[in-house]
Amino acid sequence: MEELVKEIEELKRERGAVILAHNYQPNAVQDIADFVGDSLALSRMAATTPARVIVLAGVRFMAESASILAPEKTILLPDPFAGCPLADTVDAEGLRRARERYPDAAVVCYVNSPAEVKAESDICCTSSNALKVVQSLPHRRVLFVPDRNLAHYVSRFTDKEIIPWEGSCLTHCRVTPEEVEEAKAAHPEAKVLVHPECRPEVVEAADFVGSTGGILRFARESLDREFLIGTEMGIIHRLEAENPGKKFYLLSPGLICPNMKLTSLAKIAQCLREMKPVVKVPEPVRSRAYGALERMLKAV
Ligand code: 13P
Repeated sequence: MEELVKEIEELKRERGAVILAHNYQPNAVQDIADFVGDSLALSRMAATTPARVIVLAGVRFMAESASILAPEKTILLPDPFAGCPLADTVDAEGLRRARERYPDAAVVCYVNSPAEVKAESDICCTSSNALKVVQSLPHRRVLFVPDRNLAHYVSRFTDKEIIPWEGSCLTHCRVTPEEVEEAKAAHPEAKVLVHPECRPEVVEAADFVGSTGGILRFARESLDREFLIGTEMGIIHRLEAENPGKKFYLLSPGLICPNMKLTSLAKIAQCLREMKPVVKVPEPVRSRAYGALERMLKAV
């Protein structure tokens, strides 16, 4: 392992590369990353880093976002099969048909979506800015793709009509209201922090709802000592590292995303050695998707 870490450090220098990792990545990957963050922070970092090569330790849509925002950089995805089943619930053709049914609606596209879908959308959002993005639009109706639970969460705070796509995250949907009840009974002092991709009944039982970055911030700033966490288990690593003495418990043992766990140190070393697999969003999809992402970055 130490050898591998040394090799990665050397390859990074040789290639002029940075490693950007999502909060759900395996602990060892987070530990060697130059930056660990939520989807919004990763997009911002991809756009602004001076590095020529970005290893995106995450899933495909995150690497695509980096390619859309920084087309001059080489984006490496250590495992080409690291996808997102939620993103795969929507495609460009399906979205075009839905747009025809709701011609007056703006299309807001959660970043967990394919590049082709972003290209068909008016604006992107992440879980940390979805409500702000929706409120920034002049439209009264919003077609929100692809996560129906995030759409439902946003609809609680806006007068606009939110038309949800029927996608959802398999991992977050595993948390049941019964598990929340049991966990609360076992840890009555704990605050419940969940991701808005959880089911509405789970979200309603939470003390805080936010992106992975939002959950990390809440835990840092809170005076409470115990927390029940309703998002992918990889986040526990940072929560524990940043909050010595505070206790974190997962709401469900099902909170593990197999795609996020496909990244390993060996695959990171290999992709830097071989400079592949590269994720490159082709034109003209890239420039159209760029518009949607750029509008998001300007709106929030
Ligand atoms: P965040 O933007 O909260 O990091 O969420 C990313 C994600 O894929 C949630 O499943």
